[in-house]
Amino acid sequence: MSEEAAVESFLVGNRKDLIEAKRTSVALGDRVVVVIHHQGVFYAMDQHCYHAGGSLLNGDIEEIDNKLCIVCPKHKYKISLAEGEGIYNASNPKDKDQPPCWMSKGIKQRVHTVTEVDGNIYVTLSVTPGWIESDYYQTEKGRAELKRV
Ligand code: FES
Repeated sequence: MSEEAAVESFLVGNRKDLIEAKRTSVALGDRVVVVIHHQGVFYAMDQHCYHAGGSLLNGDIEEIDNKLCIVCPKHKYKISLAEGEGIYNASNPKDKDQPPCWMSKGIKQRVHTVTEVDGNIYVTLSVTPGWIESDYYQTEKGRAELKRV
């Protein structure tokens, strides 16, 4: 028998208020999600950073290698807003002439789907199967797993 995750959608607020706020922290189910409005687009992702659980709520947003990324305030890890991809600078620090070389660590942060209906904004939690590293800081199951290792 396959284990299928149920799709959960939550009303998080009205469009105008969320645009004004720019960043909104919401508890959805057993997760804490940050809803971000940036350059006319809404994004939603787990609020606690996959690296060590830092809050992404006040992270700067930078364009890195043509991807909008949030920079975790705690240790400056960069995470693409749209995909939750961990992005790192793989340049050789001893070679000052080498331009920045950005690489991907793959998907590290769980991102969620944002939809708008009649001026209201909904977040549908991701049901991507398997563990994504940010899960460890979001759910009871993840916290239990962290204590175990
Ligand atoms: Fe986010 Fe370390 S907790 S970079």
